[in-house]
Amino acid sequence: MNVLNLDDFSTEEINHILDLAEEFKNGKKVDYQGKKIVSNLFFEPSTRTHYSFDMAALKLGCKTQNFDAGNSSLKKGESLYDTVKTFEMFGTNAVVIRHVENEYYKQLVEKINIPILNAGDGTGNHPSQSLLDLLTIRQEFGKFEGLKVVIVGDIAHSRVAHTNFKIMQRLGMTVYTSGPLEYKEEGYNYVDFDEIIDQVDVVMLLRVQHERHTEAMKETVEEYHARYGLNSERVAKMKEHAIIMHPAPFNRNVEIADDVVECEKSRIFKQVQNGVFIRMALLHMVLGENV
Ligand code: NCD
Repeated sequence: MNVLNLDDFSTEEINHILDLAEEFKNGKKVDYQGKKIVSNLFFEPSTRTHYSFDMAALKLGCKTQNFDAGNSSLKKGESLYDTVKTFEMFGTNAVVIRHVENEYYKQLVEKINIPILNAGDGTGNHPSQSLLDLLTIRQEFGKFEGLKVVIVGDIAHSRVAHTNFKIMQRLGMTVYTSGPLEYKEEGYNYVDFDEIIDQVDVVMLLRVQHERHTEAMKETVEEYHARYGLNSERVAKMKEHAIIMHPAPFNRNVEIADDVVECEKSRIFKQVQNGVFIRMALLHMVLGENV
């Protein structure tokens, strides 16, 4: 079983993963006693996704291998497939992969015989991030149906925006997007941030994905912050029970003001914590329920 794209999972299955993550949060114990090995193959930089998958595996009693892409045979021209096949032949039980190419996994699924967990493919999908976002929202509001969210930032280049836009709508939420027009995505319900901010339950901010751009951003950092950044004046306009989210890494005083990062409405570090429980649920699901 693979976890590549949330489109492959029914709403019922998604809720089951969230329930399992909640059980891990509440202290459920599973111990693979070192009999399973999880290999983390990150071909793009990562802190949270990489090390929370690693932490999740360790908490399940698995052993882990962390591939150092910068010092690997990739430098000698080895392909993604040959690298992943090598880890399969070593005897690892699951691979967690992040790669710059959209749908990189399509070249692997037919030929790799161990579970693949997608930790982010280019601008395409980021299933484990969306699941931890959903868990955070469900813990807060107890439901998805009828909630309104605005996702603000570099929508066009964000796998988090793409994955969330789809799954949140499927779960009955109204999803708006906002941010610089140059990063607008057609068909993504674009709105003016200041006009929608007092109506939504969730404000989700995104980092500008400079590494995916061919041209520099038109706005200066100061302009970006003034137009689209979440500062305390904008927070004051949010609904009483509305929350702030960000997949991180965040750039303080660009998309979010320094003093807002840990304000009372912010769930940013709670998302990080939920990331471990979601990844425990995903690993347990693919490694086999019967321990
Ligand atoms: C995001 C990613 O890599 O897609 N981060 C994450 O996984 N928490 C967002 C980003 O890099 O801006």
